[in-house]
Amino acid sequence: MRGPSAYETIGRAYTVRRRPDPSIARRIRAALGDAATVINVGAGAGSYEPDDRTVVAVEPSMVMLSQRPVAAAPAARAVDEALPFPDDFFDVATALLTVHHWSDVERGLAELRRVAGRQVVFGFDPSRQLDLWFTAEYVPASAAMEEGRAPAVDELAERLGGATVAPVPIPHDCSDGFLGAYWRRPEAYLDPDVRASISSLAQLDLSDVEPGIERLAGDLESGAWHEHHGALLELDELDLGYWLLVAG
Ligand SMILES: C[S@@+](CC[C@H](N)C(=O)[O-])C[C@H]1O[C@@H](n2cnc3c(N)ncnc32)[C@H](O)[C@@H]1O
Repeated sequence: MRGPSAYETIGRAYTVRRRPDPSIARRIRAALGDAATVINVGAGAGSYEPDDRTVVAVEPSMVMLSQRPVAAAPAARAVDEALPFPDDFFDVATALLTVHHWSDVERGLAELRRVAGRQVVFGFDPSRQLDLWFTAEYVPASAAMEEGRAPAVDELAERLGGATVAPVPIPHDCSDGFLGAYWRRPEAYLDPDVRASISSLAQLDLSDVEPGIERLAGDLESGAWHEHHGALLELDELDLGYWLLVAG
């Protein structure tokens, strides 16, 4: 399942495992610059929304909207393809870890350009899925899923009329539990609640996930994981192909 309706199922406990990560938040904040007005598209529960600007969120899933804190910015229930705002209404449009869920990326990006002077997009490189040992060695079906739905950053930059793109290294203790967040905490992937908050894993058939999880459990117990990947435990952050794009 792709698109807005997926999060009615997989978004249920989103805010437990998907808390904004401070180092990613700093990068997004810097990218906002002096913007006074922000539209956050695919806003989910409001991660990374600044509290010192005027923010309006756009989010299609009721399950996600219901997890927005009481004090969060007001939200419209809508999709990327038809933003219910006039042209040039906002200084900046943000789209954070959401574009790979859109069914018509071209139209969604055109809408970001129509309603805001600048665009800030956080995403990942679909061709680098196998950089993460977990995907490469244990659940390769996840890479196939992301390669099928996430657009290449060059394509996004072109459609946005040019952009700067900077890598976003993932800290070892990343508090936003997306797929790459646990690269230095291998035991975390054994936890079904962790996997439920990662869209690709939550959307795959169990038969594509569980055999890999069992193998990982075995490799952690036998020491095989540490033998192959122990050097990662010395690193504080890792470039896994996540990026931040700024356009306009
Ligand atoms: C991984 S979550 C990210 C949420 C939030 N931006 C964050 O960083 O925590 C992806 C979000 O995209 C939303 N989404 C899916 N399809 C969408 C669409 N067509 N238009 C707008 N949002 C969409 C989902 O409902 C979900 O809330």
